This record gives sequence, structure tokens and C-alpha cells, in this order.
Amino acid sequence: MLDKKFSIFFGTQTGTAEEFAEDLTNSLKELGVKCSLHDLEDYDPKHLPSEEYTIFIISTYGEGEPPDNAIDFYNYIHDDDHPKTYLSSMNYTVFGLGDSTYETFNYCARNVKKKFDELGARLFFKIGYGDDDDDIESDFLSWKTNLIEFLKSSQTNTSTKTTKKTTTIKHIEYEFLETNPEKKAFRQDNNTSIQLEHKIKFSKIISSQELHTKKSKRSAKLVKFDISNLGLNYNAGDHIGIYPENSIENVKRVYKLLKIENPDQVFILKEKTKNSFLTKYQPCTIKEAISNYCDLTSPPTRILLSSLIPYITNQDLTKYISSLTNLEKNEFQDFLQNKAHTILETFEFFSESLNIDLGDFFGLCPSQTPRFYSIASSPLETPNEIHIVFINSVWYTNQKKKYLGLCTSFISQFSNKDDKYVPVFIRHSEFRLPNKNQIQNKSIIMVGPGTGFAPFRGFIQELAIRKKEKNSQIGNITLFFGCRNREEDFILQDEMQNAKETGILDNLFVSFSREQKEKIYVQNKMLENKQIIWNCIRNNGYFYICGDAKKMAKGVINTLFSICSEMGGEKGEQLFYSLKNNKRLLEDVW
Ligand code: 2AM
Repeated sequence: MLDKKFSIFFGTQTGTAEEFAEDLTNSLKELGVKCSLHDLEDYDPKHLPSEEYTIFIISTYGEGEPPDNAIDFYNYIHDDDHPKTYLSSMNYTVFGLGDSTYETFNYCARNVKKKFDELGARLFFKIGYGDDDDDIESDFLSWKTNLIEFLKSSQTNTSTKTTKKTTTIKHIEYEFLETNPEKKAFRQDNNTSIQLEHKIKFSKIISSQELHTKKSKRSAKLVKFDISNLGLNYNAGDHIGIYPENSIENVKRVYKLLKIENPDQVFILKEKTKNSFLTKYQPCTIKEAISNYCDLTSPPTRILLSSLIPYITNQDLTKYISSLTNLEKNEFQDFLQNKAHTILETFEFFSESLNIDLGDFFGLCPSQTPRFYSIASSPLETPNEIHIVFINSVWYTNQKKKYLGLCTSFISQFSNKDDKYVPVFIRHSEFRLPNKNQIQNKSIIMVGPGTGFAPFRGFIQELAIRKKEKNSQIGNITLFFGCRNREEDFILQDEMQNAKETGILDNLFVSFSREQKEKIYVQNKMLENKQIIWNCIRNNGYFYICGDAKKMAKGVINTLFSICSEMGGEKGEQLFYSLKNNKRLLEDVW
């Protein structure tokens, strides 16, 4: 089958599916296979019936939705108008990217397969499922190896020659410019803003407030963004995407790596790389490109390591990288923990034998990705502001080396005085309050320990306004909140208590997990108040969960099930199972 022509498509939210699709395209090209790579956003799905061999690499997002760049494609194939034989000339396979923590694991890839089958397409190679909860890269690499073996073994046309894998260096040419004639830079403030990517706006940070007390060893922040005159529409429950900037220390390390003397020098790459920012916002200065467009802080992938091989001048190191890229997750973890924890450290680790220049660096380094936060405000209360709440993330490697979360540390450092504009955009979500008609006499239960309280802060602001409206008949509103210790991390305590005192919240139940020997969690408070929960569920109320997906949300759902089962018997269990489909059990979990 190596003589066929393949079209490879990717549907990606954070860039991983794109990286995999690119890697597969390169591997097939090295075998002499004709193939083309397509971003699903740029592809007209009307051409699908004329495709012969296709490979789809597609992730699942949120509550089982397709990634943003695949929405049009996904809707198109689900259009009822297509005849049953619509794709009968098409052969296909799919690799899905998902996370088994979520019930909707690889939902999107599964649905694409189902639809293709219904439309008469033929699955020529088994579908692969990657699991981000384990080692998604190794899932992909073994699926790719099997796919390539399969293509080789089903080779019918013996005359097709496969080119031997070569490791020729593909240098990315670049040029220095005297000035920046077009001034396309991404990071402009809104006053001087030129036409930017449609949905990204530059929002000024108004304030950054510490929410933990001095007794706490951790830090949580409430950060407010000014969105006046930006045309950003949001609802309580939506997410805000934020593009972080690399720290100046890390940016300087890249200057050192590439021996850059004048970071303010304007340059332009002479060809397109996988870094779409550079394609869009060049010419720009070296500093801008490294600070804003490059991902320096994610862990290196095995695919990135392999791509360094052609540039390594030392044979032993080349062998070392090859051995690393074949390692299982646990063994590879050892490299990440002890040798190079980030992409920047990977470049540094091999730097003595790494023959790369500025152009090559931008060809190799992945693009910066946005970070998403649950919005913690309501446009009814603050139409010109968006608020977020987060914990400043800090972690240590086995060697006790300290790392700070990139986006949280970036945002935390600014206040109103700094005049800092940050690139942001809104991602709409289904996690929202019922509308006016749905909410009539219905109860609402919100479970949000820690920063899981964020969207409920917006909900409470909205309910306060809705409750004042004429003829408003909203049922009981209950909030379950949990933290470690009331004297350390009971964030926004005043606002919660005020909501209770003013009658916006009918019930506020708070669990403190570390004030006593045994842990007390929101689940314990749910069990203590099972009658309130059961009343809500059996009277068609709404149940919301926000926060940790791995343990908390699962624990809360199990507790909800046991309450329904205990209070309502078999009928109660049936009611529980219908909650999700009826959109009365909603989760915003991470
Ligand atoms: P812990 O860290 O003391 O275990 C906010 O993070 C709160 O959620 C903390 O009190 C934290 O407690 C608690 N938490 C941790 N794991 C949980 C789980 N599985 N279910 C519910 N709450 C949990």
C-alpha cells in the first residue's frame, strides 16, 4: 500500500494531534510514500468523497466535543443529507487522542469512525486510541509503527521503491532586516492594535489579589482583566484562554544557546514552519519570537528528541537519543526528571553537540499554547471585566529542582500600574445556569472545592441579579465548598458568607480537610445533607461540579449515585443515569 497517496488530517486543541500528524507525515515521506498534511480547519470537507486513502488524527475536548479546528468538519459529516454511499470510495483510519479520566474518552474519534462507517467508507487499518492519563505519545508511536508495518506488508506493487531513511539536515533559512516595515507584532496594546487573529484580544490586567492568608504556604490569586471596548462576549461558566509570555530568564537562556547578541534585531524566516505564530506575525524581533511564540517549558516529547538527531554532531549522543525515543513511559520519566525537564532544558542538555542556528531553532521548537481558566465573574455584574481564580502552581523534580507554572506566574506578577496587556480569547462552554424558563422553581446544587469555586462565583453574581427580577421563582440554591483549613485557604470566604446572609444562597456547606486527623471532604457534607440533594434531583433540579477531575469529581459523582440509590431505590438510580443526558448534571473539571 506504500504506492497509494495518503491525505493526513489533524483536529487539535493544544497542538499534540498536529505534532503527531506531522510526525506521521514525515515518517511516511521518508518511506517514499506520497502524502499531504491538512489542518481540518483549512480543508473543505466536500472533497472527502474524492479522497482515496485518509488518516485522521483527532482529539476529544471538554465533554466529548471536537477540537475547535475540527468543528466544521465534524458538523459536516454529521449532516443528515449525505447518502449512505457518500464516502464509499474512501479508505480511512483514525488515531484518537483522549484522556481516560473522562467518561467521554476518545468520543470524537469514535464518532468520526461511526459516521464514516455509516457513510460507506472502509476502515483499512485499526483505529488507535491514545490516553493522556497514561502515555499518549507511546500509544501513538506504537500505533504508527504497526500502521507502517501493515502498509509495508500489504505492498502490492513491487515496483515501488522506498527511499532509505536519510538524516539530511533541513535548515530553515532566515534573513535579518534593518527595520520592521510591517509592524505585524502579536503583542500590541489595544490602542495601536492592527488586524490580529480574529478572536484574540489584548486585555489589560486590572488587579491581582492574593486569596490565601499568610499562614498558607501556597498562593491563590483573583485576577481581574479589563475587557471594555474589546467586543468580547462571555457568560458565567465560559472559559478564558490566555497566551503566556516566557520568563525573561528563560528567554535569556535561549539567547545564550543560540549565541544571540542583539535580541532586538528584526528577522524573517524564509519558509513556513510548524509555528503558525511566526508565519503570521513576522517580521518580528528575535526577542518577540522567543518570548511569545515558542513553548520552552512543556516537557520534551520523544518526537521532539528524534527531530534533534540530524543536528547532533556526536554519534554517541545520536545513539543515546534513539534509545531514549524507544523507552517506555517510566524509563522516559527518568530522563524528564533527571536530565531535561523542559523543552529549553532539552536544547541545553544537548547544546555542546547541537549544530543549530536561529532558523533551525524556530523550525524545531513547538509553538506556545494557550492556557484555559474557568471564568469567575458574570457579565451581568461586571460587563467590562473578566475575573479568574487560580492556584499558583509550583512543583519539584526528584532532584528537588523547583518549577513554577508558566501562565500563573506570568499573570500573577502584574497589577494595574504595570499597563500590561495580555492576549486572551473566550471559549464558550455548556457549563451554565439554566435559562429563565428552565429555572422556574428548580433547585441548584454547586460542588466546587478549592479553585473549583471559580465558575460558581459567576453563577452567584448572576443569581443575585436574577433573583431581583420580577416574577423570579428560583428554587433552593446550595453550595458545597471545601478547602484544607479555614485559616489558610478558605478563599473568597466573605463573598460566600455574604451570599448566604443575603439569601442568594439558601445553603452553604464547607468542609475542611486538614483541620482534624480524618479527611473531611465535600462528599461527607453531601452525605450529611442528602435530603437536600435528593429533593433537588427528584424535582428536576440541576447539579454542577467544578474542580479536580481525577479524584474529586469521581468521588462526588459516586456519592451522588449512592444518595439517589439510597433515597430513591431503583427509580432513584434511573434518575441518576438520566441526569447527564438531560444536561442536569454538568461538569467543568480538569
Ligand atoms: P486535601 O488536599 O486535604 O486532601 C481543595 O483542594 C480541597 O479538596 C482540599 O481540601 C482537598 O483536600 C480536597 N480534596 C482532595 N482530594 C479530594 C477528593 N478525592 N474528593 C474531594 N475533595 C478532595
